This record gives sequence, C-alpha cells and structure tokens, in this order.
Amino acid sequence: MAYWWQKGIIYQIYPRSFQDSNGDGIGDLPGIIQRLDYLAWLGVDAIWISPFYPSPMADFGYDVSNYTDVHPMFGTLDDFDRLVEESHRRGLRVIIDFVPNHTSDQHPWFQESRSSRDNPKRDWYIWRDPAPDGGPPNNWLSRFGGGSAWEYDERTGQYYLHSFLKEQPDLNWRNPEVRAAMLDVLRFWLRRGVDGFRVDVSFRVMKDPLLRDNPPNPNWREGMDPADRLIERYSMDFAPDIHQFNRWLRQTVEEFGKDKVLIGEMDLPFERMAAHYGKGDELHLPFNFRLLFSPWKADVVRQLIDEYERVLPAHAWPNWVLGNHDQPRIASRIGREQARVAAMFLLTVRGTPTMYYGDEIGMENVPIPPERVQDPWERLAPGFGRDPARTPMQWDDSPNAGFCPPGVEPWLPLAENYRTINVAAQRHDPTSMLTLTRALIGLRRAAPALNRGSIRTLDAPDGLLAYLREAPNERYLIVLNFTDQPQGALLPEAFSSANIVLSTYLDRNELVTNRELRLRPNEGIVAMV
Ligand code: NOJ
Ligand code: CA
Repeated sequence: MAYWWQKGIIYQIYPRSFQDSNGDGIGDLPGIIQRLDYLAWLGVDAIWISPFYPSPMADFGYDVSNYTDVHPMFGTLDDFDRLVEESHRRGLRVIIDFVPNHTSDQHPWFQESRSSRDNPKRDWYIWRDPAPDGGPPNNWLSRFGGGSAWEYDERTGQYYLHSFLKEQPDLNWRNPEVRAAMLDVLRFWLRRGVDGFRVDVSFRVMKDPLLRDNPPNPNWREGMDPADRLIERYSMDFAPDIHQFNRWLRQTVEEFGKDKVLIGEMDLPFERMAAHYGKGDELHLPFNFRLLFSPWKADVVRQLIDEYERVLPAHAWPNWVLGNHDQPRIASRIGREQARVAAMFLLTVRGTPTMYYGDEIGMENVPIPPERVQDPWERLAPGFGRDPARTPMQWDDSPNAGFCPPGVEPWLPLAENYRTINVAAQRHDPTSMLTLTRALIGLRRAAPALNRGSIRTLDAPDGLLAYLREAPNERYLIVLNFTDQPQGALLPEAFSSANIVLSTYLDRNELVTNRELRLRPNEGIVAMV
C-alpha cells in the first residue's frame, strides 16, 4: 500500500506567475483553473500553490495578513473552492502553503500586539527588552540581508523578533492561544477540501526560549550570504520543542483522515532532516533540498542517494527537489542539456518528486533590469534576489506568452526566448523537454518499481550515475551521463541484456544484448533489466 503523496508527483505553482485571467499582469486562481487541463495532461498528481492570502506583499505573500481568505488580486474564496473542485474532478490533489513562523506586520494580531505592553495579544509575538546598551536582545540575524533579526518599537520600548523582513514578525507558538488559532487555520482549509500543506520554514518555528546568542560561523567568507555569518544554533530547529510543533500539525491534519500530507520546508543536513519524520507522528515529507545546494556531479549525487537512504528511518518516505521559487532555475544552474538528465533523475529516483512550474519546458533564469526588481531580498543583498526564477510561465509564442493579454505589462519580464521555449511549441515536438518530462512522468506512474520500488546505486565509470529500481517482477536500470562526452558502461554481469525504454534524446528504444551500454554526451537512459 502506498499513499498518493508517495506514489505521486507534486507540481509547484507560484500563483503570481502561472496564468493571469483578468488582465492585470498578475497570475491568479481563476488562471490556475484555466490551466488544470494542461496539468492533468502533463500527468502530475498534485499541485502545491504558494501563498494567495491577503497580504501587503512585502515578501510576495509570505507575509500573511489574514490566513483564512484570498487576496482580491488572486480571486475569492469561491474561486478557491472552484479550484479545489475542478482539480479533484481531474484527479489532481491540492496542497497549499501554510506560513506559521511569521505573520505580516499588518495582521490584526500584530497590530494589537504592538499597541501596548499589556495588550492580550502582546505575547502572541516575541517581544523583549533592549540589551543593557539599548541594542537588540541578542545577536540573531535576519535571513534577508543579514541585519539584526530584531526591530525596535518606539511606542512600547521593546524589540520584536523577525527572522525575515521587519514586516514579518515571528509568532510565539509557545503561547497556547497562538497555537489554537493557527491550528484552526489548518482546519479551515481542510474543511474546504485541501489535501495537504507545505509548511513554510517549518524548522524555524521553535527557537531557544532563552534566546542565547548564535556562535560565529568559521566558514563564512566575504561574498557569502551575510545572513550566514552566524551558525543558527539557537534561532531555528530547536529540539526537542520543534518536534512537538510537528506533532501538533500532524494531529490536526489527522483529524481529517490519514491521507493528508504535511511537507515541511527546511534546509538541513540529512540527519537533522530525518528527525522531522519523528516516529511517523511528525511530518510526512521534510523537504530534501540537498540537490539545490550540491554540485551536479555523478559521484556527489550518488553519495547523496546513499547517505539519504542510510539515515532515513524505515517508516520514512524520501523526496527530492530540483528547483523552487527561492532558487535559480535548474536549466540555468547546470545547463539545458544536463537539465534533461536532471529531470530523468528526479522522476526515476526513489521518493516523491516536487517539480517547479516551467522546469518541464526548460525555463531559465531571466535577467531582471534594476527598475523591474520586485524581490525585497535583491534590495537588501544584491545578487540574492529571487525574481529571475519567478517570471511568467511561457505558454505560447503570442505577445506575453499567453500569460496575460497583449498590451499588459506582466509583473516580471518574460524570458527573451519565450517564442521558442513554450508549452505550445514543445507539446508537439517529439524531442522537446516537455515531451521528455511527460514521457518520464508517464513511465513513473505506470511502473511500480519507479513509483514505489527500492533503490540501489551501482558502481559506474567516472561521470556516470547508475542505479536500480526494483519491485516484485519488475526492475529498471537508470544510467545518467553527467558529462558532455560520450561514455561507455559495462552492464553488471547479472544483467545479460537491457531493454532501453527511454533516452533523454527521445530517439532510442533498443535491446542491448552484449552488456555494453553506450551513452552519448549528456544522455540518460532508463532500461528494463
Ligand atoms: C521560505 C519561502 O519559500 C520564501 O519564499 C520566503 O521568503 C521565506 N520562507 C519567508 O517566509
Ligand atoms: Ca490577474
């Protein structure tokens, strides 16, 4: 037995950038509904939609001012209900973003909290007196720009904590009222039929109650993210308290049945990430971000698989991520040719794949001219902005790529190459990235060995990654050439033949009977063995 979120493929939609339905240049929920047929055709199992809640948009929706409504820019609650219904009708599950670590400073809770020291909601946020010298209560740094994580509030003479922007004050989950109110937010959306949550920076929610100073990071060098000057020992992933937080969420979603999924956003080494599964009573999928931060090399990726598989508890289900709205596009990071190999990896490795919108057609980072910068992070730490990976989805070659009507300025510029890199152009091209992605998805869905089988990596010549996926009566061999040179591999003796069912070149179905596998530059193959 496997749950849908184990067998299935998750597709992340950044709602501002997917499809505009009303001509304001910003994507919205009715726009997503218009594109559900495409997603069903592509073959994914679930969509995860980044925040669409009322928000002043200081951090593009990750600063929520009302957790139980839809920002008018994105539509209405009725649109949301329709989105769930239309998705479910097509067999697509709906995962939404839950942002528990912080609210917007415009949230009525924070407005009350900051109004006076004895306001009943004062303790809903993390307020502290200044240090004896008048400075911030400790040395913690904001993730955005690396300034202090504390903001002084003149009116009440105390500082409040903000792990991100000062417009994103951190909630105090140690307060039982906060907990109750936030868990009710989950129930609100579960009653509307959602199938799960992606929990924003879930690992940051519990911090050291003593607020001890973080130690300096000896590996930090000029040019690195200024927020990494300290090791975040006390400001995040504070155990065991963080596991209690995970259990609160798990118990709440289980009130609605066993097949709701909780995905936790975290950037942690495997061992600490593995702890977030608990005893099967915490998160279903603590996000595995290792590929985002590792060099794209065959031996490195092999080590990642082996280490991950080694540290995961028996009850835990793995997952892999190649891109998201916070990271450079995979096709820009490793190149167009290797992006095809990476897609083959993501869709044949053991564990739930999360795809980022547009990666299926090979969208690339789009250079953003200074006057069009939107992301506050770019202003605080130039070069760290995330706009290049958040540009409008490229649907066709019409003006504005089918994202918004001609003559309207989309909220971020379109890629210059959208006339060739788009869904319409690739849909009927037998060797396109889209055709490859869809073929891989189809193969994964049809093959139990790929969607729920075991995995074993194999020794292979330098530059090649090889692994086996096995289920009763079914065995697949995947060999990926990470180099731009032709490579040969000798099949292990146990396999007298290999039936190649898919190549990243999409031109090859052949039976190899002499144990000699030849791979072209940047080629990956899936073979039945
Ligand atoms: C992680 C989100 O993915 C990112 O976009 C956001 O800026 C921060 N959390 C703060 O919510
Ligand atoms: Ca719109």
